[in-house]
Order: sequence, then structure tokens, then C-alpha cells
Amino acid sequence: MEKFIIEGGVRLEGEIRVSGSKNAVLPILSATLLCKGTFRIDNVPRLNDVYTMIELLKILGCDILWEGEKRLLVNSERAEKYVAPYEVVKRMRASVLVMGPLVARMRRAVVSYPGGCAIGVRPIDLHIEGLKKMGCHVEMKEGYIHVNGENLKGARISFPIKTVGGTENLMMAATLAEGETILENAAKEPEVVDLARMLKKMGAEIEGEGTDVIRIRGVSNLRPCDYSVIPDRIEAGTFLVACGITGGEVAIKGCIPEHLRAVIDKLKEAGMDIVEGDGTILAAMRRRRPFACDVSTMPYPSFPTDMQAQFMALMCVADGVSTITENIFENRMLHVAELKRMGADIRLCGRTAIVRGVEYLSGAKVMASDLRASASLVLAGLRSSGITEVSRIYHIDRGYERIEEKLKALGAKIERVKDEDMAARKGI
Ligand code: UD1
Repeated sequence: MEKFIIEGGVRLEGEIRVSGSKNAVLPILSATLLCKGTFRIDNVPRLNDVYTMIELLKILGCDILWEGEKRLLVNSERAEKYVAPYEVVKRMRASVLVMGPLVARMRRAVVSYPGGCAIGVRPIDLHIEGLKKMGCHVEMKEGYIHVNGENLKGARISFPIKTVGGTENLMMAATLAEGETILENAAKEPEVVDLARMLKKMGAEIEGEGTDVIRIRGVSNLRPCDYSVIPDRIEAGTFLVACGITGGEVAIKGCIPEHLRAVIDKLKEAGMDIVEGDGTILAAMRRRRPFACDVSTMPYPSFPTDMQAQFMALMCVADGVSTITENIFENRMLHVAELKRMGADIRLCGRTAIVRGVEYLSGAKVMASDLRASASLVLAGLRSSGITEVSRIYHIDRGYERIEEKLKALGAKIERVKDEDMAARKGI
């Protein structure tokens, strides 16, 4: 197993380039199952979750090759299988995104039911209810969801709560269904819009992506396309916080500032200077300690749950008391206990963390529990005195492309080491 060793206290300076979006590329790769042919997907980040999706698509019969650093060639000509096995789905919940495309093209899918995960139960009942409304017969057998979509047809589906994956799965299923599907209270995240854009390039008839109501008119067939994935707004946001927490000055290149509106507003409230350009954000933090400000996570365009842990790291050193409320996932506060080990003063009241900013954090051994929680520990480590050791960093590799290299390019002192190396250093 690998860990990060961080020596805190360095002001970050310089520029970094944002990678392609993890949450956009996963549904986009699943969408290649919607028709046979060769797709060229550009701006693909090299992440463990992407490798898992590639493995799943190969199991389903796709041939996949990297062409250069960032482009994937996906050939779905021989994709005839329709079973997403437990071994893959258990590693990555987003594997369920193959369900919609499989049902659309093959009229059937067998997908392992995903278990719970660290941040919450995360059911997929809304994906299943939607497919049933679209005429599918769905059965649970031996841990697998069996979907028979012989009678797949359009339907009006009103989501009781916003679901990103649910919106994406049903949008993909609807592209080849007979008749019109109307998704009400649909998710408006940029990643949903990116998927809709790709589907339209494939010949799908979709209107309203990015609004609460998406209309999909089913077509009889789709065609492969070339597509470039949007930049990762959460990675960009994480680097903005890295700049803020170290009192740095950083240029974030290759991003879409508009996608970060709520995050940028909060960081400005915290005292950062931020200037948005065309595909660039220039950020600087001239205060030693940020202002305390309150955050409440909500679906896009509000403050994203995927930035909650990172923002909390920043508030740990704020001048004052802030409250951070998590409204999307029921158990997404696992970083609190670890941040406290670094000297943070945080009290948890249900879904709200009350963070009393402290002058100093101190390096400690901490453990990553999920993807964004691990990012928050790295950020806190960058500000701490002494050495921080973040273990279980496989969580971070699921969603950040070479985070330590990008941080190092900004001057951070961070090393990835194997546990054996640590033993050797200590002369064990
Ligand atoms: C996606 C993102 C994840 C992000 C989340 C919320 C991907 C690959 N992952 O996850 O990074 O944190 O959106 O922005 O894009 N829910 C149900 N029933 C369902 C579906 C969802 O109750 O059938 C609940 C979930 O438990 C959660 C909430 O709805 O509490 C939002 O979940 P959802 O938007 O579906 O998240 P994901 O698509 O899994």
C-alpha cells in the first residue's frame, strides 16, 4: 500500500492544468455501449475509476486502446455481453451506469446490485423505478438486478430527489426507447450536460439538459462519435483550496470557471482574490487566515458535496467559526475525526459540522476514508507544521490524476511512498 508524506508550510505558487472530469467520463464511456462502432474519447483522465470502467467495458466485449496520453479508442463492435459482474461493481458504484445503455441497445441487462459505500447507503431505487416506468421488467436475483427491456418505451418520470446517476442512466435508456421520455426534477450537473451533448452527437434527440426537465425522443439507431470530455471542476476546486490554505498564488488552466460558480463565491467570501479568464482561474490568498464562512451542500448549481471535505480543511484554519452542512449524503463526515487528529476543532451535530478555526494544524498520521475526504487530509497536511502521513491513498487515485505531481509543480513537499519504503527509512 502507498501513502503520502507531506511536509507542510509551503506557499503554493505557479500553474496547473486540470484533467478531464471523472464524473463526466464514466457515463460517457458507458454510452459507447449504445451502438456499435469506434469512438474516440479525448481528454480522458488516467484514474483508477477510469481503469475500472475500461475493465468493465472489456468484460462486456469492447476493444479499448489508449491513443497517446489522453485519448481512448473504444470499439464496441463486439460488445454483445450484458452482465456487469459483482467483482467490478463492488469496486466502483458508477459501474451501474452501464445499465441504461445495455437496456437501450440489448433490451436487457444484468448488473450486480452495488453495496453501500463509506459515505452512505446510496441506493439505486430511482434508477430501477424509472426503468420500470419505461416498461422494463426488473427482478432481483442472487444480488443481481435483472432487467428485461423488451417493452422499453418512453415515460414521464418525476424524480423525488435529484440524482445525477439516475438522470444519466435513464437519459441513456431513453435514447433508443420508443416514444418520448420526460425526466422531471432532473439533475443539472455539468457532467449530465456533457453526456447529453455526446448523446446528441451520436444522433440522440434530447432537449433541456442543464434544466430541471429533460425531454428525450427515442430514435431507432445511434452512431459512434468523437468526443472530448469537460475539465474536472472538482479537481480545479481542490487546487483552488490548496492555494487558499497555503496562502498561495496559483493559475488554474484548462478549466470552465462557470462550473465552479458556487465554489468560487465561497472562496471569495473566505478572503481569496479570484479572477476568472477564458478557461483560466487566477487565484491568490493574501490573508494568513481565511474568513470563516458557512457552507451547505446542495445539487448543482449550489455548493457541491464533492467539495465539502476540502472546504472544511480550509475552514479548520479560518479566523472564526463556520458551519458546514452536508445535505446530499448521510455519512459524508468521515474526514472530521482525522482532521481533529491534526488539531482541528470540529464538533459534529448530525449533518452539520461546527468548525472553530485554529491558528495552527499539526502534522499527524491520518487515514483516507473516501475520495474527497482524502483530498481534504492532503490539503490540511499542506498547511500543517511538521509531517503528515496520509495512508490508504488508493482512494485519492480513484479521482485525482497524479495529484502529488501537480502539487509538487506548485512547490509542495509531498512524496508518494510504499509502506516498505517507510519501513526502510525507519531502519525497520
Ligand atoms: C454522483 C457523483 C458523485 C457526487 C454525487 C452527488 C458520479 C460518478 N458520481 O454520484 O461524485 O457526489 O453525484 O453530486 O457522477 N439516491 C437515492 N436513490 C437513487 C439514487 C440516488 O436515494 O436511486 C440518493 C443518494 O443516496 C444520494 C442522493 O440521492 O443521497 C444523490 O445521489 P446521486 O446524485 O445519484 O449520486 P451519484 O450519481 O451516485
